[in-house]
Amino acid sequence: MKRNKAAAAPAASPRGLPPGLPPEVRPGQSIELLQELHILTRDGKLNQDSRRKLKQVYHLYQFIEPLLKEVREQSGERGVSLVDHGAGKSYLGFILYDLFFKGLNDASHIYGIETRAELVEKSQQLAVKFNFPGMSFLPLSVAESTTSQALPEQIDIVTALHACNTATDDAIDFALKKKARHMVLVPCCQAEVASVLRKNKGQSLGKSALTEIWRHPIHTREFGSQVTNVLRCLQLEAHGYQVNVTELVGWEHSMKNELIIATYKNLPRRRPSERLQEVLETLGLQEMGQRFYSAHVAE
Ligand SMILES: C[S@@+](CC[C@H](N)C(=O)[O-])C[C@H]1O[C@@H](n2cnc3c(N)ncnc32)[C@H](O)[C@@H]1O
Repeated sequence: MKRNKAAAAPAASPRGLPPGLPPEVRPGQSIELLQELHILTRDGKLNQDSRRKLKQVYHLYQFIEPLLKEVREQSGERGVSLVDHGAGKSYLGFILYDLFFKGLNDASHIYGIETRAELVEKSQQLAVKFNFPGMSFLPLSVAESTTSQALPEQIDIVTALHACNTATDDAIDFALKKKARHMVLVPCCQAEVASVLRKNKGQSLGKSALTEIWRHPIHTREFGSQVTNVLRCLQLEAHGYQVNVTELVGWEHSMKNELIIATYKNLPRRRPSERLQEVLETLGLQEMGQRFYSAHVAE
């Protein structure tokens, strides 16, 4: 019996997408872009790794979309400016642009900051290919970008996902200087605080039984990492931000799944500034005062 080809074809997706696409792909999303980002294969499939990547980015999008909407409501024609630090291949930037920015008729812009020139170049090419004029990529370190003339004086939203080591701290410094309204940070390992704890261990041990918390080398590393995020949160609060710390679910492959969201509310700074100083002193980390500077002390 002859098969009816039309009858054998998969039914059109009820979501208005070409048939056969994984359910993770959203209406309006560019299939070609997802393929270029190697999230979808050439035949429109998701492998295990890219399914996870997409899930993570969507999970973050859930937090970022309301922030974008809020800024847009207040900014009018100026639109939203977002800087993504340690952008890597810019999955986040491209997916944000595709889902939110591409339909806007204003001056909204995403800037990707990345030290690896080849990744910057590739992202620039992709932005041209997909006609995303509101995207720019700069081959700069996060610290360099703070004073770069290529960026505006004020930025609305700053993101930094797994930006290596102290790049998250530089992103916080950038956001404070640019008076960012929101920050969305998923820190990576930071070795600096642990190294200072290690260096000063001899003097600290014996001062209090609590120094046992970081006596063993593996504990020094883990505690250093934990304290780093505590200091970051206090620093943000000491600049008037409201801070929420949560877990970035869907990030199962990574040990680093802490999500810090900070929103500027002009909150009182004195108490968190004092707490910040106290934690630095208690842990023998006074020399980190420059890194975790606080507005109250600087005023
Ligand atoms: C682990 S990758 C994360 C990439 C991307 N944010 C993501 O989540 O897929 C970290 C990226 O940050 C970049 N990077 C590290 N330190 C940096 C710095 N100080 N300034 C700018 N980029 C940096 C690295 O080159 C790398 O591409």
